[in-house]
Amino acid sequence: MQPVSRRQFLAVATTTATVGLAGGCSLIPTRSQPVRASSPAVAAAETRRRRPGARVHQLTLTATTAGLDLAGRQVTAWAYNHTVPGPLLRVRAGEALRVQLDNQLPEATTIHWHGIRLRNDMDGVPDMTQPPIQPGSRFTYEFTVPDPGTYFFHPHVRLQLDRGLYAALLVDGPAEPGGYDQEAVVVLDDWTLGVGPTPEQLHARLMRQGGMTNMDGGMGMMGQGGSGELGGTGGMIDYPLYLLNGHPPTDPARIAGKPGQRLRLRVVNAAADTAFRLALGGHRLTVTHTDGFPVAPRTVDTVLVGMGERCDVLLTLGDGAFPLVALAEGKRGQAVGIVRTARGSPPAADAHPGELDGRLAAMATLGPDPQRTLPTARPDRTHQLLLSGGMMGPHWTINGRTFDQAEPLPVRAGERVRLVFGNQSMMFHPMHLHGHTFQVQQGSRPGPRKDTVIVRPMQQLAVDLEADNPGQWMVHCHNLYHQEAGMMTTLSYLH
Ligand code: C2O
Ligand code: CU
Repeated sequence: MQPVSRRQFLAVATTTATVGLAGGCSLIPTRSQPVRASSPAVAAAETRRRRPGARVHQLTLTATTAGLDLAGRQVTAWAYNHTVPGPLLRVRAGEALRVQLDNQLPEATTIHWHGIRLRNDMDGVPDMTQPPIQPGSRFTYEFTVPDPGTYFFHPHVRLQLDRGLYAALLVDGPAEPGGYDQEAVVVLDDWTLGVGPTPEQLHARLMRQGGMTNMDGGMGMMGQGGSGELGGTGGMIDYPLYLLNGHPPTDPARIAGKPGQRLRLRVVNAAADTAFRLALGGHRLTVTHTDGFPVAPRTVDTVLVGMGERCDVLLTLGDGAFPLVALAEGKRGQAVGIVRTARGSPPAADAHPGELDGRLAAMATLGPDPQRTLPTARPDRTHQLLLSGGMMGPHWTINGRTFDQAEPLPVRAGERVRLVFGNQSMMFHPMHLHGHTFQVQQGSRPGPRKDTVIVRPMQQLAVDLEADNPGQWMVHCHNLYHQEAGMMTTLSYLH
């Protein structure tokens, strides 16, 4: 009889429990070991992606406290290179990034490159893919960026994202459709630091009050009624401010152009607890991409973008000054910018262009781009992810467990994997998977490729992916307060 090492014994125990829980999954040989970030398979995946002679963009990001002027109110944010949002990074698909992060924050941190199909050891998940970067120390991220599109980056440590640590990452591709004269990045955020409770105070209050609670105590009650589009409440926190490119509505960010020009807006929702409904007064929007990947173009009046989702739209600029409004969906308040091609007064902070009530595109309902549709295949493995919380206590769970207790979801390289999210709670969850871009299933039809998808209350939603990027990958709700309260697990490649 072969001796069984303690490591093997643990692997056997984990595997058995997982199969029991998920039910109906294929069995995994008992000697399976997780493909860790340090595994040669991870380095080999990077070698396959990196073209010889590919350009490497080198830069330094400093994470530090920084003064932020919110229409005359001075607050202290946490920021990359002293700006909120941080500096825009831009590379071409196939090139590499070499980013030194200099941590001058009072806490350990990491950077997660949201949506990028990168090597697992550069994914920025503390204690899973790297040790956290201690205050006063540095870490260099280096990875190939394979796919074009609109992405962003942020820490993966506690509530740091809600302090201003985020920035857009744009990846240009040779095959990307042009057809526009101008482009602008629109980063949306919900803001409390310095003008309301700290994120830590909000989290503590949510944990005390349990589950889905209207926040009050100087912040007012949640906006009425919630959202039909989100199938319930808009969020748990009524933020005092909503920002567009770091600006509050009383000092709106400006985007300039010329009448008749085609403008591409690259919209990133970096908020912690807020989905936004975005419209530009006097304009229709043609949605061309979500989460970096192209979709079958659809022309609408307004788009709904959940936390962690991105949306690219094209529009033809009119003559004048137009309000760009991102309504906090199901809440009170909005972020406001101004798009101008001529002189004109800035929009009122409460401007409400009629387009906000017009035809709406929710990202998960977009049609697929045939060029980027996964080949039809039956899943080799299906995992159910039951999403619950908000009723019996302060925790949010996947399959009844918070992250510290979670059973990893096993996969093997080369498999077609289906994740079925079943939302058994009364709130929407923008579910995000690291390192992959899945294909949303619309019944038996393929929908858009995405890395983050809104799952509405009581909805069951399947996404398919090709397991082509070995490592340990987080699957979690991109509501930062749900994630912090446990709503996270691991898609775990096994040898
Ligand atoms: Cu932007 Cu783990 O997420
Ligand atoms: Cu959630």
